[in-house]
Amino acid sequence: ALKKHILVIPGDGIGPEVTTWGKAVLEKIAEKFGHEFSYDEALMGHAGIEATGNPLPDETLEKAKASDAILFGAIGHIKYDNDPSAKVRPEQGLLKIRKELGLYANLRPIMLFDELLDASSLKPEVLRGTDILFFRELTGDVYFGEKKRSEDRNTASDLMIYHRYEVERIARKAYEAAQVRGKKLCSVDKANVLEASRLWREVVQELAPQYPDVETEHMFIDNAAMQLVKNPKKFDVVLTANLFGDILTDEASQIAGSMGMLASASIGDGTGFFEPIHGSAHDIAGQDKANPLASILSVALMLEISFGLKEEAKQVTDAIDKVLKDGFRTGDIADANTDKVKILGTKAMGQKVLEYL
Ligand code: IPM
Ligand code: MN
Repeated sequence: ALKKHILVIPGDGIGPEVTTWGKAVLEKIAEKFGHEFSYDEALMGHAGIEATGNPLPDETLEKAKASDAILFGAIGHIKYDNDPSAKVRPEQGLLKIRKELGLYANLRPIMLFDELLDASSLKPEVLRGTDILFFRELTGDVYFGEKKRSEDRNTASDLMIYHRYEVERIARKAYEAAQVRGKKLCSVDKANVLEASRLWREVVQELAPQYPDVETEHMFIDNAAMQLVKNPKKFDVVLTANLFGDILTDEASQIAGSMGMLASASIGDGTGFFEPIHGSAHDIAGQDKANPLASILSVALMLEISFGLKEEAKQVTDAIDKVLKDGFRTGDIADANTDKVKILGTKAMGQKVLEYL
């Protein structure tokens, strides 16, 4: 039996609704397997700004550093989306915690549940058999490079910057994952145009001979965006930079049927951070409509990656699989044949997963 301390950061919008069910699944797993999980909660994003003026309150960061793993919900508020002049923004909380915790590798698995083949806008025969693991670099790139605005406000720039060590450490993690998966690694960049990408490609090319069992391919981001919907099956591990990875994984979520199905694990120097890839979805917040499965799948990643609890993680994904097989859906993953499926709200879907566990 394991003893672990987990920090829950519900965040904004649908964050609190979905993390409730992620946490409930953790509690159920602890009970079933005799683990001792303790919990704490903290504010981030708009919730942090409202309470303290800071999107990442000091207390949250302290609690994060003192925990064994973090379950996060979502971040953002419509108030800021159309206000480019806002100096303090919810998203800064997420970016800062990624940086402070050294979470340089963001793993985003595209797991396909067969029952959801029809929920995608892509053809089932194109999708079937797809299994991709994205490694998105998370603490560098234009996200963290110097930002500038000219005095007359008419010129703006964000610096795309990478250092060799940043590329190397995430590339190693991606190669190690490829070795125990499909033994293929596709590194995505824009090396025909960008100097930062040329460094990226150079580093990956230098590492490749150290992983002779893995087949390395380099692809430009524009081509990768196209190949991803043309023939997603061809990918195994995809390694890419922060901004390219952000965009490419939203696109890839449609392979799994919905953003509401995609979980992610951010790892690096210390505590692991687990969150759905979806945003705060204020349009459906508080309406019991959000899909809690991405949060629950994030918990499965936590159990496996941070705690080494493979069997526990498998039981969580198996429970989701059974719930889907029995025809239960949230609105985002209901296919066109709605007469064949039963649409549930957030709470009922969370309850179903608990029941099937
Ligand atoms: C994500 C999100 C964040 C990002 C935003 C909210 C800052 O889109 O986790 O993918 O761009 O990294
Ligand atoms: Mn994103």
